[in-house]
Amino acid sequence: MKFLLHTYGCQMNVRDSETVAALLEAVGHIQVRSEAEADAVIINTCSVRGKAEDKALGKAGLLCAEKRDRPLIVGIMGCMAQRLGESIFKTVRGLDFSVGTRRYGSVPRLLARVAAGETQISDLGDAGEVTDPPHVHLDGSHAAFVTILLGCNRRCAYCIVPDVRGPEHSRPAAEIVAEIRELAARGVREVTLLGQSVMNYGRAHAVWPASPAPSSFSEPFPRLLEAVAAIPGIHRIRFTSGHPSGCTDELVRAVRDIPQICAHLHLPVQSGSDRILARMRRGYTRADYLDAVARLRAARPGFALTSDVIVGFPGETEEDFTATRTLMDEAAFDNAFVFKYSPRPGTPAAALAETVDAAEKMRRNQILLADLDRRGQALNKARIGRTVEVLADGPSLRNASRWSGRTTGNTIVIFEIPAGRHVTPGDLVSVTLTRATPQTLYGELNTSSGLTPW
Ligand code: SAH
Ligand code: SF4
Ligand code: F3S
Repeated sequence: MKFLLHTYGCQMNVRDSETVAALLEAVGHIQVRSEAEADAVIINTCSVRGKAEDKALGKAGLLCAEKRDRPLIVGIMGCMAQRLGESIFKTVRGLDFSVGTRRYGSVPRLLARVAAGETQISDLGDAGEVTDPPHVHLDGSHAAFVTILLGCNRRCAYCIVPDVRGPEHSRPAAEIVAEIRELAARGVREVTLLGQSVMNYGRAHAVWPASPAPSSFSEPFPRLLEAVAAIPGIHRIRFTSGHPSGCTDELVRAVRDIPQICAHLHLPVQSGSDRILARMRRGYTRADYLDAVARLRAARPGFALTSDVIVGFPGETEEDFTATRTLMDEAAFDNAFVFKYSPRPGTPAAALAETVDAAEKMRRNQILLADLDRRGQALNKARIGRTVEVLADGPSLRNASRWSGRTTGNTIVIFEIPAGRHVTPGDLVSVTLTRATPQTLYGELNTSSGLTPW
């Protein structure tokens, strides 16, 4: 059967979709790029904001309508499938199957049952169950996501993720290391370790085998970083998302001493106002956050930060908003996602009266985006003239001599490859930066040494 996967939401969903694609290919199905070619379309959904759900529901509705004109199987997986449960079959008429966030391993079986004539079938499981779903990868990439921590125990007031992804569960360290070893053997050069609050890895229960290798760290997450860095072939290690409480002395020491760890962290701050941070139940203050930033930057000069910010949380005043603006300046974010607060059913914040209307959320959003552009331009302009290490991702679609890659700080670099030079995706190359826009750097491949990380 030919299948297409539509993926909404975060890297966790991208990772789960890749596993589903690999499982389906393993039993003979073929992944295609267009809906028109597909016999089955699976939508991997996100529930984090109302708009994300509306998009997936709209797509599912359109696909189910198409079933009137041609045979087509439509399935849903991911966070919205978990949130809506069996009621999704009432919301999306004609939907064939639905699977929960820890049950995506069932997709091949559900698909076979639908092909055999069943419909409206589900394997939702319970987001709280401790079943570790399969983690398999497609071939052919030089960069891979690896889920190390499932679920989330934090329960920030606005967030649906703990409901749909269940409580925190760390995968055994030995399994993660084996998975990355295999990836490295298949040509992967960069891994991004995934978890909602990734530095919580191993805090809730034991993750190491009985006789672990000696380590210079006692905390599980720095130990895991050390074990991953020891795998030959892995040039770069990233992890996301961070939380200031994870920036322990050991973590900072790992960032300082393990050269494969990239000089970048996605460290969502959500707000710069202590009053709002407390209402959000984030578990840190503005000062705690800035302290974590300062310690990371002391460990690695030029350490890049990106973040998530919510505007219009219930009770956010102009003064609170200004505090977010000034924090973003002080932390000098390379980039950030700015989200307009969206009440999620059943979360504690949904019980709070909304005090910021849509127009005001939009105004605050635009102001932060303009700030980000200005700051991005200034930060990137200061990098012109430097020769930096770039992990080559691949040629641009339009012009094969123009390649795209990323710095250790995760900034995209577009660079020309002179005739006669051969570069392979996953290679570390040296690029002299010649031009900058707020989000992108441009440069030329350099053959001399004298590399600086930034
Ligand atoms: N686990 C990650 C975030 C996962 S959700 C972390 O805590 O860092 C991704 C982002 O969506 C969050 O960082 C937050 O900025 C945003 N978000 C979550 N719930 C939201 C809501 N109800 N309204 C608007 N934005 C939200
Ligand atoms: Fe949501 Fe907070 Fe958990 Fe992130 S840490 S997934 S924002 S509850
Ligand atoms: Fe969305 Fe689920 Fe990720 S709600 S942000 S896809 S964990």
